[in-house]
Amino acid sequence: MKPNRSQAAIELKEGVPISLSFGDVYFSKEGGWEESRYVFLEGNRIPEFLSSGSKNIYQIGELGFGTGLNFFVTLAFWYNLQNPPPIHFYSLEGFPLPIEILQSLNLSFPGKPLWTETLLGDYEKAFERWEKNPIDRIWKTETLHPQSKNIFTLELLFGDVLDCLDYFPSVDFWYLDGFSPKKNPMMWSEETLTKIKTHSQVGTRLATFTAAGFIRRNLEGLGFQIQKQKGFGKKREMLTGVFL
Ligand SMILES: C[S@@+](CC[C@H](N)C(=O)[O-])C[C@H]1O[C@@H](n2cnc3c(N)ncnc32)[C@H](O)[C@@H]1O
Repeated sequence: MKPNRSQAAIELKEGVPISLSFGDVYFSKEGGWEESRYVFLEGNRIPEFLSSGSKNIYQIGELGFGTGLNFFVTLAFWYNLQNPPPIHFYSLEGFPLPIEILQSLNLSFPGKPLWTETLLGDYEKAFERWEKNPIDRIWKTETLHPQSKNIFTLELLFGDVLDCLDYFPSVDFWYLDGFSPKKNPMMWSEETLTKIKTHSQVGTRLATFTAAGFIRRNLEGLGFQIQKQKGFGKKREMLTGVFL
């Protein structure tokens, strides 16, 4: 597959980007910011771990950067802590969104710390570099914490999930956010889940909005202990897990 910009065919509906290629939404219309925090931060028990002081650095791995909403929600949470540890947030994206769609995120969540002009410019340049040379796939950006002076690093890899996952280290938390398994089986294939396992260690946690039975069983088969939890808002269930 050779991903390119034209493949990220998008329609905006009431501020929510919808992928025409996958027939799925990037985030929920009902409280997208809160849902991201509920599913990925709280689902992974990140607030608890970050204040425990038990590790010098935490590494997060995300499948599907999309609009960057999960990244910004995590960054905002970290930024408001008094004494947070450094965080390295790895994400990947095969079909980068055009700048206009990223900008629309700021309109969908007014008052939230989202895309700045500088970040948009840097993203655009990195994306163009990757389009010219598919090996040049990394966009890295750092945020300094005002009190602790620790750093939150985002490392976004452009390319297909299977290629990008090879660049990930062993992470502490997974955000599995690659559209629904029915609409995007590649993001949930045995190969993808096996790579997730390869880049996990004992204690690595995961969270996802899906509660699909075959995803639960496949993750269990790879050594994750999986729990069904109440989903966000009207959603009945979601999955969280820990690698044993
Ligand atoms: C639900 S969206 C992610 C939402 C995102 N986390 C956010 O905060 O906006 C899923 C993302 O996975 C990406 N994606 C889908 N299939 C992919 C693949 N095979 N390789 C890499 N990225 C893929 C899509 O382009 C999309 O951006």
